[in-house]
Amino acid sequence: MADFSTCPVIEIKDVSKQFVMGDNVVHALRNVSLTVKQGEYVGILGPSGSGKSTLMNIIGCMDTYDSGEYKLMSIPVAKLNDRQQTIIRNRLIGFIFQKYHLVSTYTVLQNVMMPLLARGESYKEAEAKAKEKLAMLEMSDRIYHKPNELSGGQQQRAAIARALIGDPKLLLADEPTGALDTKTGEEVLKLFRTLNDMGHTIVMITHDLKVASHAGRIIRIVDGEITEQ
Ligand SMILES: Nc1ncnc2c1ncn2[C@@H]1O[C@H](COP(=O)(O)OP(=O)(O)O)[C@@H](O)[C@H]1O
Ligand SMILES: [Mg+2]
Repeated sequence: MADFSTCPVIEIKDVSKQFVMGDNVVHALRNVSLTVKQGEYVGILGPSGSGKSTLMNIIGCMDTYDSGEYKLMSIPVAKLNDRQQTIIRNRLIGFIFQKYHLVSTYTVLQNVMMPLLARGESYKEAEAKAKEKLAMLEMSDRIYHKPNELSGGQQQRAAIARALIGDPKLLLADEPTGALDTKTGEEVLKLFRTLNDMGHTIVMITHDLKVASHAGRIIRIVDGEITEQ
């Protein structure tokens, strides 16, 4: 039995993925290997088209790969069926996206409650936990607002509360400051640093060296290959 208290969060070994479009083959990932330990804050840095989103989709159990091996908390996720992968995603990963991906018809509170309701927790319990998380992120005065009534920074804080609500093992962020002005982006990055100091494992994907430099370790990806660790 794997020891979950000390195992790496992410273990990727020689993973490759290609996209075939007619005669054209794109090698989106070439023999990528990457280990992320519990408590690390890793920035994955690469230009547009380098394979970042492909890698994020694999880490997030949202896409398959052609060869190699990927374990999330010692679990070989590719061997699981869709339903099991959905459970793994809900339990182990908190997703943070560039454009927040909040449900526009829900209040902030309802958005943050969603991951807990999806795993069958009671409404009352989910509501209490969501209020607590939103208080921690200084969003208590906005919980009954709809996303479009909030600033970008506030929407991203709501999305971060939603990512944190289920106590995930990994925070997986794709260009989390990409839609924010510099100052608001810095605030989000400061929050990430605080969360990492609290023990959260973070993988942040970005094309911006300044953003990546907030992470504890930077991994560069170019043309589907990791060039520097
Ligand atoms: N669904 C797809 N079908 C065909 N090609 C794809 C698909 N997704 C990504 N690609 C190609 O794979 C390469 C890597 O893409 P991507 O992972 O989105 O890069 P990034 O996120 O770094 O911009 C690019 O050349 C892209 O055009
Ligand atoms: Mg991308």
